[in-house]
Amino acid sequence: MKVRKAVLPVAGFGTRFLPATKSSSKEMLPLVDKPLIHYAVEDAIDAGIEQIIFITGRGKRAIEDYFDISFELEFHLKFQGKDELVEQMRKISDMADFVYIRQKEPKGLGHAVLRAKDVVGDEPFAVILADDVIQNGKSGTKQLTEVFDRYNCSVVGLEEVNPDDVSSYGIVSGVEIESGVFKLDKFVEKPKKEEAPSNLAIIGRYIFTPSIFEELEKTKPGAKGEIQLTDAISSLSKREVIYGKIIEGKRFDCGNKLGFLKATVEFALHDENLKDEFEKYLKEVVKC
Ligand code: G1P
Repeated sequence: MKVRKAVLPVAGFGTRFLPATKSSSKEMLPLVDKPLIHYAVEDAIDAGIEQIIFITGRGKRAIEDYFDISFELEFHLKFQGKDELVEQMRKISDMADFVYIRQKEPKGLGHAVLRAKDVVGDEPFAVILADDVIQNGKSGTKQLTEVFDRYNCSVVGLEEVNPDDVSSYGIVSGVEIESGVFKLDKFVEKPKKEEAPSNLAIIGRYIFTPSIFEELEKTKPGAKGEIQLTDAISSLSKREVIYGKIIEGKRFDCGNKLGFLKATVEFALHDENLKDEFEKYLKEVVKC
């Protein structure tokens, strides 16, 4: 069955970026000229996703406005003769069918995903975390749907991380069955270094069969007192096979300041209009 829907949890407070995120959404922070959430939606669209389900919360109206038609802006741009920009703006609202569901309380990623149960229904779906930005010609979600199409089972995106960083991730272990694809058996959310089953971390791309919702409904609060998606995946693995796929490309963790800055620099160095001058500038700055 084709994966047509993607759930994008965006209700978090973005506390690592305060005060910048006090009155606006972390997902709207721009990498060069597009907000993080735009890259996440592109990742979905490139995988053939047709419907984007945002799990949103208080103070996230900017995301709804961003993916809506801005009549005033289009009118103003048209008046100025900037037809190309009008077209560019309209393309954003035409990218997909957008649905918004409120997560009333911040009870964790698993709780956020469960909010989408009725809208997703009985079909496979993707989950995309906008913090994880992947720089590659091929979308991270697309890399997972290709595995899903072969095995018809849930698949999570993986990356080998430094063993000192395992406590920041959902960590898995398993058997490699084809190059970069694993059949997984252990899933631990944010383990201590000495308790981690490996250094294979889940990064923010997932494809799930709808059975994940039954597991989420049973999942009790885990790490950080939140309902963890990783715990529900672990329960699901007792009745369905779960695969993992190493995501090809460079991943930036834009959920923290350093990762966000690294992504900003690298995206600027890949921007046709900026790269030459920006590279020159960076060389000058680094020299000092
Ligand atoms: C979430 C998940 C974690 C995953 C990570 C990827 O954690 O809970 O399993 O490894 O995203 O970025 P968070 O970054 O929200 O703490």
